[in-house]
Amino acid sequence: MKFTTPATTNPIDQLKVVGKPLDRIDGPMKTTGTAPYAYEQHEAAPNAAYGYVVGAAIAKGRIVSMDLAAAKRAPGVIAIVTADNAGKLGKGKMNTAKLLGGPEIQHYHQAVALVVAETFEQARAAAQLVQVKYAAAKGAYDLAKEKDKGVPHKDKENADSKVGDFAGAFASAPVRIDATYTTPDQSHAMMEPHASIAKWDGDKVTVWTANQMIAWGQGDVAKTLGIPKEKVRLVSPYIGGGFGGKLFVRAEAVLAALGAKAANRPVKVTLQRPLMFNNTTHRPATIQRIRIGASREGKITAIGHESWSGDLPEGQPETAVNQTKLLYAGANRMTKMRLSVLDLPEGNAMRAPGEAPGLMALEIAVDELSEKLKMDPVTFRIINDVTHDPAQRERKFSQRRLVECLRSGAERFGWSKRSVEPGKVRDGRWLVGMGVAAAFRNNIVMKSAARVRLDGKGVVTVETDMTDIGTGTYTIIAQTAAEMMGLPIDKVVVKLGDSDFPVSAGSGGQWGANSSTAGVYAACVKLREAIAQKAGMNAAEAEFSGGSVRAGGKSLTLQQAAQDGEIVAEDTMEYGDLDKKFQQSTFGAHFVEVAVDAYTGETRIRRMLAVCAAGRILNPKSARSQVIGAMTMGAGAALMEHLVVDKRGGFFVNHDLAGYEVPVHADIPHQEVIFLDETDPISSPMKAKGVGELGICGVGAAIANAVYNATGVRVRDYPITLDKLIDKMPLTA
Ligand code: MOS
Repeated sequence: MKFTTPATTNPIDQLKVVGKPLDRIDGPMKTTGTAPYAYEQHEAAPNAAYGYVVGAAIAKGRIVSMDLAAAKRAPGVIAIVTADNAGKLGKGKMNTAKLLGGPEIQHYHQAVALVVAETFEQARAAAQLVQVKYAAAKGAYDLAKEKDKGVPHKDKENADSKVGDFAGAFASAPVRIDATYTTPDQSHAMMEPHASIAKWDGDKVTVWTANQMIAWGQGDVAKTLGIPKEKVRLVSPYIGGGFGGKLFVRAEAVLAALGAKAANRPVKVTLQRPLMFNNTTHRPATIQRIRIGASREGKITAIGHESWSGDLPEGQPETAVNQTKLLYAGANRMTKMRLSVLDLPEGNAMRAPGEAPGLMALEIAVDELSEKLKMDPVTFRIINDVTHDPAQRERKFSQRRLVECLRSGAERFGWSKRSVEPGKVRDGRWLVGMGVAAAFRNNIVMKSAARVRLDGKGVVTVETDMTDIGTGTYTIIAQTAAEMMGLPIDKVVVKLGDSDFPVSAGSGGQWGANSSTAGVYAACVKLREAIAQKAGMNAAEAEFSGGSVRAGGKSLTLQQAAQDGEIVAEDTMEYGDLDKKFQQSTFGAHFVEVAVDAYTGETRIRRMLAVCAAGRILNPKSARSQVIGAMTMGAGAALMEHLVVDKRGGFFVNHDLAGYEVPVHADIPHQEVIFLDETDPISSPMKAKGVGELGICGVGAAIANAVYNATGVRVRDYPITLDKLIDKMPLTA
């Protein structure tokens, strides 16, 4: 099915099942520990040996020699895989560095060996006996130092953008802000580390793994191993968090396959937690300069955003300037990104790549300019709203309700009680303040396929390689199929995350919910036709409800319809150019109240509110969970998350969950999420968009602005830790 014109009324609009805040259908399995995650596929791959990964101890250079003798002699050791004995390996499309390094080392903790043994403990003990001699080379590790060597990225969408005369308009603007902000390297730090079990059957390998994008992963495992894609099966039914870190195949999947071949039995590998931070990808640090000029009435006349970031050779920039092309008005505009070569671990996507760090800077700048204008920051944003892409007047937003998000949020949050002057509200030892930021994230549609089967029990089974990374995919797919087929949700079975199933959109870029359910919609349209045809009914008239199909005075239960054999249908939802004709984005507003200890500079969040406009919300409960999770991650980004670079050694120092701090329950107080009642017929027949990344966009800046409002101290370098506040705090007691 191809989606080429805006959606009209369709069975989803009945909203008997879709749109309901149903509990997750996979919840009982998860809460009873019976959902098999990758490392727990004992039944599928019995008798698995354990692999333990050895990571490089230098950031750049070469392996001079590797002595495996002692490790090979250690108890329980079955095999040791290194670049020397692994055969010729390729590189996956989605990987910047090689997943098994040697002799050349491209980054710290790049895998250099896998020790396979009978038990995990034996593998770990033997791994300590692997003797590697390195010749270290000089690398570049300091973004601030390398920044001016940055070059534009080759991809067109990362090119500099220009509208009107930015320099002239900025120079002549009566009110201006010109400030530089920094965001540090951050880690996904998901609960479940990268984990895989591999098992060979002849020349075919099955990898049970934790991966967001099954088809990409299947392709990259095949490419790396140098075997046809058809010889690789990826299975990923449950995933304990991804946040972009599992968009790509990582070392443990490939090493499990190589280890299983060497050991001639299934091998399971998890990246040890201390390897996660340097071995895998991270969100790269940015330096961002923002210049905004406005008239005295607060109309933006010039807006410019530049961002510098780094990555390994052939890597990508952190696209921090992109939202600035679309979020606010202004006739004169510029954006620019520069990418420097850094020999740190691979930078890549982490929840709302681009917008998350971009808005952390932009939305402080907007707060600073509002203050210069003596204008309420909510009002400033409202008067600079636009209805179309500021660079192309004819390109309208499919939906844009930023103003309503801001207005209703301000009302709900009690924004009018905010002190305009910072540092004025005292509650005992606490300085209290409020902050606001806009949220913006593009909506991307992705081709997605599904297969649906109706059996003789009247049960519909959905099969698609779509993944549920903790987002609620199982449930919204079941809701979609139930709605389409006129069934209660318990008559739908959902099977996900298997490369044997039709290729879906996968989970990434907040496109998963809308795109994957649209694929299920397409398959269900076909199934309805097949059922009607079988029942001798006119498909166009057939009505599916209450477990039956009716047309022309005839009625049949779905059970009866499939009495003499399963009815199977498969289809792909594809898209025309609606996403080119219209700018599709999601919008929101974040409001935060913080209290900062006047003596220690410690920040405590008191209240958070997010108002989101993101198309139809397929399940308000799982969508809310996505947004509160994203808000929590935003709080981490604002106040604690920081991969500290060792600028001599070229690695992230705090590479475990003790050193890399993320919010815990005690850090997160009352959170409220409001979804505006919206449908977007431009997005898909589901009329839905994404919220999983929108929820983090702007949160960091709303917190930073609240800290400023509380203390009068403006911190432009994240995270806002107490050392950046304490010397500047107004001590009045
Ligand atoms: Mo997302 S960072 O595309 O998983």
